[in-house]
Amino acid sequence: MNISVAIDGPAAAGKSTIANIIAQKFNLMYINTGFMYRAVAYICMEKSIPYTDTSSVCKVAKSLEMRFKNDRILVNGRDLTESIKKPSVSNNVSNYAAIPELRKLLVDMQQKMALKCNVIMDGRDIGTVVLKDTPLKFFLTASAGERARRRCRELKEKNIPAEYDKILNDIIKRDYMDSHREISPLVKSEDALEIDSSNLSISEVVEVISKYIIENSR
Ligand code: CDP
Repeated sequence: MNISVAIDGPAAAGKSTIANIIAQKFNLMYINTGFMYRAVAYICMEKSIPYTDTSSVCKVAKSLEMRFKNDRILVNGRDLTESIKKPSVSNNVSNYAAIPELRKLLVDMQQKMALKCNVIMDGRDIGTVVLKDTPLKFFLTASAGERARRRCRELKEKNIPAEYDKILNDIIKRDYMDSHREISPLVKSEDALEIDSSNLSISEVVEVISKYIIENSR
């Protein structure tokens, strides 16, 4: 039987950092589903396709072959990992991610990936929709201030200009959109283990998750 681990949570809660480490520790394929929504938004923005043109957005999504290689995403063979993390994409992706037809396409792809191998997936609807039957679900949070500080640090390390107040506002706005959309909103699955990482180090979070996986995957 395949092992599937689900991690959901708001923007910049540290999901990808933790998922990467857990993937290596338990030999799981890491699927960053946020990258998939970001990749569609990025390509649509490149082609000037607005999120209101849902049929063109879906046409673009169907034309993309997405592959994960460690923590990177290759889209039709192109490594888009850095481009899709840009603030311009962060500020627009939630509009695209609210399109029901696009979500159906990407959820289908994600579920097919999970059938093929042992996976850890992070996103907003993994525990509630994509992997709703897995017993290994986590909901990772942190205060908005702490998340904005982390995102600022991450951008500055890549020499991308980052202003704390603006990042905080953008994060709050994106969380609101993700939590209030009609389809698959960001919500903690009832059976997920909630971890508030505001005052925890990366290794402390990894330890809590590892212990839970070991205890619950037999
Ligand atoms: O890394 P960060 O927490 O900033 O966000 P992300 O995981 O890269 O996700 C970017 C956006 O994609 C989110 O704000 C959601 O709008 C959307 N998303 C989603 O709707 N469902 C998912 N399973 C994953 C991401």
